[in-house]
Amino acid sequence: METLTVDLPGRSYDILIEKGLLSRAGELCRHALPQAKKLFVVTDTNVAPLYLERVTAQLEAAGFQTASYAVPAGEGAKCVEQLNELWERMMAFGLTRTDAVAALGGGVVGDLAGFAAATVLRGVDFVQLPTTLLAQVDSSVGGKVAIDLKAGKNLAGCFWQPRLVLMDPNTLDTLPLSTFMEGMAEVVKYGCIKDGEFFAYLEERPSREALMEGIEYILYICCNIKRMVVELDERDTGERMLLNFGHTLGHAYELAGHYTQWSHGDAVAAGMCAAAHLGERLGITPAGTAERLEKVLSALGLPTRILCSPEQYGAAIGLDKKGSGSTISVILLEELGRAVRHPMDKQVLLEELR
Ligand code: NAD
Ligand code: GLY
Repeated sequence: METLTVDLPGRSYDILIEKGLLSRAGELCRHALPQAKKLFVVTDTNVAPLYLERVTAQLEAAGFQTASYAVPAGEGAKCVEQLNELWERMMAFGLTRTDAVAALGGGVVGDLAGFAAATVLRGVDFVQLPTTLLAQVDSSVGGKVAIDLKAGKNLAGCFWQPRLVLMDPNTLDTLPLSTFMEGMAEVVKYGCIKDGEFFAYLEERPSREALMEGIEYILYICCNIKRMVVELDERDTGERMLLNFGHTLGHAYELAGHYTQWSHGDAVAAGMCAAAHLGERLGITPAGTAERLEKVLSALGLPTRILCSPEQYGAAIGLDKKGSGSTISVILLEELGRAVRHPMDKQVLLEELR
């Protein structure tokens, strides 16, 4: 089993990675939550038929009294109505401050269940059992929990670190290919921003089958990078912003596709390519970097270019928002494996993107 420890003052926790680990969920959650008697499991309607029964049986065998609730699958569940549903169900279950919540699912379940745990009874412990590639390499680690508002994604939330992150790569076998590849956009991002050797490793594995052969190593490398970044900057005021490589421009593409044409992973993939081209034009990124990046992403079936209007770029970089300042920190690559924050005037950036 691969183990990483996220070392934060008073809130350190382990990330455990191993094929088949869900079958040890009971004993491992018991170890992380020695005082909890009740565990409220949050999942979604796709994940429940696949894994819920197995996990709750494990938890019960380890002495937890459990209740569960499956939210409707999809981003729409990250809403105040589902949050309220969870709060009420947790109270009906008799959850107390020494009990805990488990998030079994993708990033939607993790963000929603984590925010419910952070807020119910002024905060109870929670554990992450991520079942998508995106949740395993990104959202389950680092303690960002949130719901969406009409005004935008993740606008109501907080930092609430889990007590344990337990990931079983076998759960990825049941993911649709497109959902797996969405997660791969984030995996490639880690190579770009922090680990050139890892990027080269990914270049040699252009298929899901080849990637799954090394999946424990892949999860370990990505989680280790996220661990280091979160330890340096838990509250996202500096180093953690490097994780946004490709995301600001990706946001423009999500807007351009009205949040339906392109998945988040598609938009991030094209956003990383646009950022690599921008860096090359500005003389910060070595020539040929964008080409290497495009080759890896294309092999995975991810888009490398998405058309978008200047207005949509403007909205994504906050040009239309009063009081958001005239400069923006763009994440660029000094080389494959090393990202930097590069402050730019928003108007100049917009001209470059045209
Ligand atoms: P998701 O949770 O919607 O899962 C994607 C789809 O896969 C869903 O339909 C889900 O039901 C299904 N699914 C999950 N596990 C499965 C499995 N093992 N087998 C079959 N189907 C399965 O989406 P996601 O991509 O995991 O997460 C996206 C969310 O994560 C967004 O809301 C985003 O804002 C959030 N996010 C949060 C952070 C953070 O730091 N907190 C970071 C990145 C993204
Ligand atoms: N996914 C970005 C972050 O955790 O900061």
